[in-house]
Amino acid sequence: MTTPRLSRRDALKLGGAAAGLAPAFLSAQPAEAMSAEPASADADRVRRMKWWHEAKFGMFIHWGLYSTLGRHEWAMEEEGIPVAEYEKQAWSFKPKPNAARDWARLAKQAGMKYMVMTSKHHEGFCNFNTKTTNYNAVQTGPGRDLVKEYLDAARAEGLRAGLYFSLMDWHHPDGARCKTDEAARRRFVDYVHAQARELCTNYGKLDVLWYDVNWPLTAAGWESAKMNAMVRKLQPDIILNDRSGIPEDFDTPEQEIHASKGRNWEACMTMNDSWGYHKADDNWKTPKTVISNLITCARDGGNYLLNIGPLPDGSIPPESVKILSEVGQWMSRNGTSVIGSDLCQPRSSTYLTFTRKAKTLYAHVYYWPGETVSIGGLQTKVLSAKYLATGKPVKFDQDDFRVRLTGLPANAPDHPLTSFALECADVPIQNNDKTRIQRPRRGVGI
Ligand code: GLC
Repeated sequence: MTTPRLSRRDALKLGGAAAGLAPAFLSAQPAEAMSAEPASADADRVRRMKWWHEAKFGMFIHWGLYSTLGRHEWAMEEEGIPVAEYEKQAWSFKPKPNAARDWARLAKQAGMKYMVMTSKHHEGFCNFNTKTTNYNAVQTGPGRDLVKEYLDAARAEGLRAGLYFSLMDWHHPDGARCKTDEAARRRFVDYVHAQARELCTNYGKLDVLWYDVNWPLTAAGWESAKMNAMVRKLQPDIILNDRSGIPEDFDTPEQEIHASKGRNWEACMTMNDSWGYHKADDNWKTPKTVISNLITCARDGGNYLLNIGPLPDGSIPPESVKILSEVGQWMSRNGTSVIGSDLCQPRSSTYLTFTRKAKTLYAHVYYWPGETVSIGGLQTKVLSAKYLATGKPVKFDQDDFRVRLTGLPANAPDHPLTSFALECADVPIQNNDKTRIQRPRRGVGI
């Protein structure tokens, strides 16, 4: 058995308790992954974001008039569809009642803890009741407030609920000319602020406001500081993303997992290649990819916001249901390794990935090697090992250079990943450089 060479203080530091200087052997790791909490975070932000950090996994929903076209949410722009022609979709958008209940149930089954739905995407159509325009769901095809229906559904499942809100608007007459015409900017910014006010006033407690694309203005032009102050006044617990041109509470890496340095972050991702419903997009991720992505986010201290693009009637694409159901089955057995987990330093393997909670290291095998699973470079003494899904103990041995889980079956016992829980004597730390440098070598020749 090896004696861990790192002191407890070092280990805690690396475990994310503080964004301290990382020892040289960690230089190959992304430095930003070492600090989940911004050093400058004020107490209120920490308080507001506690649930969000624990949650780790959320559902993004892109739903609007573009869903009726089924060719990606950027169809209006990319196909050059004139406003007068595109507007007609508002009347053919006829969702079935309470479609959002199925979204919320699926999100919950998948192990997700929160949802974020488009209240208004770039097309400018409002899924909510608004006094600012009649281009809204209540006064057109749907004939009712789709934001309210969604929020009721999320809350009924005990999920936190947020709203996506696009600043860019392809429909509003001032949406582009606001850049060069001050009178237009004034009108348009008042319009957008009024909608933000409605969203934060008419629907009870909102957990997240998720701004998107701030073209064609800057934060100053949008008067984002003023807008966000208003939002926080109306919703003191709300969490804001960084897309109003002000960093606010969290960063939003898109279609990639990239830990922000010293900032909270949430990676948002599609399940195929489109956010809005695209009937021909068949480039679906596998459940294994989705779970591995979730694990990577959790390991590096971030969240994973995974998108569905419902059909115009509100039903979820069957492929998405299938993927999320499988993810949910895995989560029901192994979700404790992700939800509420802590920043995790170990990350090196060709067939494993890791998460951590306090002193427990979760080792997730995505390519099952057979009878022995070996983790190189683990510096922390392992006290016990078990299958996470069943709690069945696993035999192991450990020396200075590796931990081996032994006596395992030839085929992976769980699907799509098999997870082990390793109770460690301290916060687990991995150091593969040490193995490379210090492993006993033999002389030249054999
Ligand atoms: C991009 C796209 C948009 C999508 C968003 C989600 O900004 O413009 O269609 O809603 O990403 O992050």
